[in-house]
Amino acid sequence: MIRLAEKSDLPGLLELERRAFPKDHFTRAQLLHLLTRASGIFLVDAMFQTSTIRASAILLFRKNSGTARLYSIGVHPDYQARGLARRLLRRCEILARLRRCRTMALEVREENRAARRLYESVGYVIRGRIPEYYSDGAAAITYEKQL
Ligand SMILES: CC(C)(COP(=O)(O)OP(=O)(O)OC[C@H]1O[C@@H](n2cnc3c(N)ncnc32)[C@H](O)[C@@H]1OP(=O)(O)O)[C@@H](O)C(=O)NCCC(=O)NCCS
Repeated sequence: MIRLAEKSDLPGLLELERRAFPKDHFTRAQLLHLLTRASGIFLVDAMFQTSTIRASAILLFRKNSGTARLYSIGVHPDYQARGLARRLLRRCEILARLRRCRTMALEVREENRAARRLYESVGYVIRGRIPEYYSDGAAAITYEKQL
């Protein structure tokens, strides 16, 4: 079930972060900020009547900007390759359109083949490359899609 994330999802979100992003994941404080204060939409794919979060996606908006930013998307390894990310991304795009955004933008690690194939398979096009974007020195590829 895809729904808006709630504060009570924090334990499940932390577990998802730890498993989906072993090297570079959000802390509890960062998640709490994103859940309660950020200008955006935090979606989860949650198992019905359990605390298990199978996947999450975070969209951020800026004032007076027609571009929404896909800040994060991650699927728990136990639930990958079932179409969850594609479904969540589609929902993000619909919600961005409802917020009058015409473009979705995102950054992804250059070497993240799975994510890049996901984005390219649903129409995202490369806009640029930012060297040493991540703290470990990895480059980011920037993508955009007209919604
Ligand atoms: C990238 C990620 C979100 C994909 O989630 P997923 O639910 O497994 O993806 P889906 O099942 O929806 O697959 C959609 C498409 O993505 C691509 N894809 C997904 N996993 C892939 C893999 N391991 N290798 C190559 N392509 C892959 C394929 O194009 C796939 O389409 P197809 O099944 O028709 O071939 C997931 O692997 C993940 O959470 N990775 C760790 C966190 C991360 O890297 N997040 C993205 C950067 S913020």
